[in-house]
Amino acid sequence: MSAELHVVADGVWTIHHRDFSMGGMRLGTRSNLFRLADGTLALHAPGPLTPAQIAAIRGLGEVSVVLVPNLLHNGYCAAAARAFPAAKVIAAPGVAAKVSGMAVHEELGERAPGAFAGVAEMMRLEGCPKMGEYVFFLPGSRTLLGVDLAFNLHGLTGFDRFAMWMNNANDKFCVTNLGRSMYVADRAAAGGSVVRMTDAWDVEQIVVSHGELLKSDGRRVLREAWSFALE
Ligand SMILES: [Fe+2]
Repeated sequence: MSAELHVVADGVWTIHHRDFSMGGMRLGTRSNLFRLADGTLALHAPGPLTPAQIAAIRGLGEVSVVLVPNLLHNGYCAAAARAFPAAKVIAAPGVAAKVSGMAVHEELGERAPGAFAGVAEMMRLEGCPKMGEYVFFLPGSRTLLGVDLAFNLHGLTGFDRFAMWMNNANDKFCVTNLGRSMYVADRAAAGGSVVRMTDAWDVEQIVVSHGELLKSDGRRVLREAWSFALE
């Protein structure tokens, strides 16, 4: 197993791009992988993959799907599609219009893509149209894969810590103040989605793009993070 790949659960991996910055804040991002029923891999929310990381992924097996699950993390998906040219690109509606030079072969809809049958379930986070996020659950390991669904930043220092203090988002799993004001257009709809997810899915672990893995009690923690939208 390459040092680049962190095992989240059996058949689930994450690559933490710790140095990734946005808006001057070093918040990191993640690329995630999960194994499909036919033994191939889905690459979820690809980030700035290095050649070594691409080689590590190839060491796991064939990537048959590049999955772009929201409208905010699409800066690196075209490069991922080029790195894995045999993969089918499955993306949230709207990604194709934002990313030039990349063919989208399938758009996410009401149900999880057929390629994920037996492995992953899916729901859309409603009420956040600028985010346009689709959330995936892997029942085999009770692992939920989100992107900007929540942040889980711990141990930040300096300006990053100050910025997240302004966001009420240090050292906890939460939706940032900025996230609430910029992306949650309809709290009731978004909160309803989170209720449906946590009713249907017995979530233990949660992977989000910005911050650490949440190792346990995911169902309760996710609902708590979105409690502002459940009132
Ligand atoms: Fe993000």
